[in-house]
Amino acid sequence: MNALTDQDLGEPLTYKVDAFISPGYAAAEKEQLWPKVWQHAGRLEEIPEIGNFITYEIGDDSILIVRTAADAIKAYHNVCPHRGRRLVDTPCGANNACGRKIRFVCGFHGWTFDLEGRNVHVLDKQDWKGALDDPSRTALAEVKVDNWGGWIFINMDPGCVPLRAYLEPAASILDPFEFQKMRYKWRQWVIFDCNWKTALEAFMEPYHVAGTHSQLLEHGDYYAYSAPYGLHGVSGFDQRDPSLRMKQSSTITRAGKGADPRVSTYNLQNEIYTTVNNASTTETLVRAAKRLVDELPEGTPADAVIKHWLASARADDAARGVIWPTITPEQMAQAGLAWHVFPNMAILQGVTFALCYRARPYGDDPGKCIFESYAIERFPEGQEPKTEWVYAEATAEKWGAVLAQDFGNMGAVQKGMKSRGFRGTLPNPHQEQKITNFHRNLARYMGTGAPRKLD
Ligand code: FES
Ligand SMILES: [Fe+2]
Repeated sequence: MNALTDQDLGEPLTYKVDAFISPGYAAAEKEQLWPKVWQHAGRLEEIPEIGNFITYEIGDDSILIVRTAADAIKAYHNVCPHRGRRLVDTPCGANNACGRKIRFVCGFHGWTFDLEGRNVHVLDKQDWKGALDDPSRTALAEVKVDNWGGWIFINMDPGCVPLRAYLEPAASILDPFEFQKMRYKWRQWVIFDCNWKTALEAFMEPYHVAGTHSQLLEHGDYYAYSAPYGLHGVSGFDQRDPSLRMKQSSTITRAGKGADPRVSTYNLQNEIYTTVNNASTTETLVRAAKRLVDELPEGTPADAVIKHWLASARADDAARGVIWPTITPEQMAQAGLAWHVFPNMAILQGVTFALCYRARPYGDDPGKCIFESYAIERFPEGQEPKTEWVYAEATAEKWGAVLAQDFGNMGAVQKGMKSRGFRGTLPNPHQEQKITNFHRNLARYMGTGAPRKLD
């Protein structure tokens, strides 16, 4: 079924749209995908104190994640073992719950559980004639939980591979960025009239920049490579002319387009910062870029401009207590611009920041999803902003002009894929391998939908 090799992903391929529009496929995901994969369910910073909890909702399942000790968290199916009431359902954010408790009391008949998931109160337990004496019968059902990069991941499959093994090689390639030291800058969510994959894939390739964000072409080129890394995938900036490769950085921190890299670097940074909702760069980087014209002589070559810019931004951050991680140029190049972490997480990373996305089904309709995006950044200790999940309409005012442009495609792509005149997908063999790799991996779980070579 999945005969495609990594090399084959560089060939012209097509894949079916059932994964996006079929109610049967969406129903099958609830059995074959979501209960089997590690999923990003939150960040550790959301549950800093013992007793802090969040829930993560996926399909018909709700997972309760609790801090049980300074260095330990546990996860449970969020259901009371008595007669099945959802245990915790205080709303908070994108249809999840959060708060702090020392005991979880079921709202139906009052069965009570401690943070370790043990049942500590059953009313009239003697009526069961000893049948509830085995604590495992009345305890909450545990779910696998682990963390990487400050993210909490859960997996409902008791026999799953460890999180680290699941995330490799992405985890090792991205470890130098020390995401665990970043904190939320903002976090927002919205409902889209499209499949969760339609939404996520809009952030998996820069091939759409020319068509969707044409204003950005004034400041930079967005030709990109893409590559599979097992379950996951990466993209990075590239040159159409192979002889120019390596002259321009593959990462988000790069000189923009134009004769004077001192000016273009600032213009690109400023454009991104102001139109991508103060994300995918930082105020420090923008300010240091603004000074380039004063600090460097005219005619300074692009690589020297970038070097100076990053050094002065690093010094500015150090002065306010934000110490940059050490990332070698080789590590930076390998990490590229942005990652897809299978199945539903996207990360666009920089030295001190990341812009991230998550998409999930919303109800059973394959044409609806919950879409969440958030920026994380390194802050001086004690100066992290207090954030919470905010519902935000899909407007430029709430999300910035660039993300609003992306959002404008969501429902239209979903509709178009249903057209009887659509001959099938034609993903770009160089720039959209993250997408074809995604469908190759989905097919491994779903048993259907693998990309095939175009005839
Ligand atoms: S369903 Fe929870 S106590 Fe009855
Ligand atoms: Fe975009």
